Amino acid sequence: MNTNNLQQDAGHKHQVYMVSGNDKFLSGLLIALSPFYHARSFNDTEELFDELFTSLPKTLIVDATLSGTSALRFITALRINFSSDQLPIIFTVMSAQESWINEASKISGLKCLERPFQTDQLLRTVTQQVNAHTEAQWDAIEPVQRQALKQTLAFYNSIADKVMNGEIFEFQDVTNSCESLIEAVDNRNYKDILRALREHDDYTYVHSMRAATFLCAFGQAVGFTGDELNTLTTGGLLLDVGKTYIPYNLLNKKEPLDEEEYNIIKKHVEYGASFLNQVDDLPSGVSIIAAQHHEKIDGTGYPHGLECMKFDRLARMAAIVDVFCAMTDRRTYKAAFSPQKTLAQMAAMEGHLDRRLLLKFGEMLLDAPILH
Ligand SMILES: [Fe+2]
Ligand SMILES: [Fe+2]
Repeated sequence: MNTNNLQQDAGHKHQVYMVSGNDKFLSGLLIALSPFYHARSFNDTEELFDELFTSLPKTLIVDATLSGTSALRFITALRINFSSDQLPIIFTVMSAQESWINEASKISGLKCLERPFQTDQLLRTVTQQVNAHTEAQWDAIEPVQRQALKQTLAFYNSIADKVMNGEIFEFQDVTNSCESLIEAVDNRNYKDILRALREHDDYTYVHSMRAATFLCAFGQAVGFTGDELNTLTTGGLLLDVGKTYIPYNLLNKKEPLDEEEYNIIKKHVEYGASFLNQVDDLPSGVSIIAAQHHEKIDGTGYPHGLECMKFDRLARMAAIVDVFCAMTDRRTYKAAFSPQKTLAQMAAMEGHLDRRLLLKFGEMLLDAPILH
């Protein structure tokens, strides 16, 4: 038996299992995945099979090279016992083995990852499969909140594809995707949205959707309605859209960033703003939120070092929500801060946030149906 069990740290990591007859390949997978997942490797299929009846991982990687059995036969046996909602599978196979790839494409809930692959590709595929598992649970959520999650996620995924293909979206698409979210917040009915997001594994989506939810609630608390509220909410969903251009490894890096890496991350503001500037009919507030949400009132923020009165009120609201969400988000490398502790720390940040608005935000939170 060769079972490696990597210790779980204080952050939140989903379980991913992997099985292969090739030990070198297994240890490569383990090294690539362990910063982000609670990864466990097996080279014995029977051992794995027994384990699955005790605990199901969010995703299982089955390599085509298995000892003692054919990988496709093994996967078929797994499917008899576990549905694709219960156990998403990734099948890693050499790209030359076309007949295997064809066979595998007929099995439900199975994703093929052709070898050799880049680490970034592996991480994206694992994230997608882990999320397929999480999203399948959304069917049990109250309908308006379920709609809000599904519509915004579908929009977010379509944006990632569009960025990759150099295409642009229509403003109406994002407005439509936020309709149920605004309705949910309007009815003070967004507890399940926040709860469901805690299990999702696409950090940029989760952060943006939480930002959109809290910005919408904040907007309502200061009296926004109609188009204004729509601008604020869609602006929240799009505030970090420029992160789509930043490599996965860097966005999810566990260790502190060095200066060069931090400068690359900071570029998401310019990338986001120039992407949004190409969208016809986009309300100026939406691109202002993306362009200015990292400015600080004392002029030490980025990218332009704008002082308080020079940067937009919407962006000052977004800066508050962005900091709040970043601190209360759960990451693979840190636990979430409580809202109370976060607010206290935000109040102590000299020169960063607009104090009057922060006070309003704090009042809104006290009144909110749920924070976590
Ligand atoms: Fe940002
Ligand atoms: Fe952010």
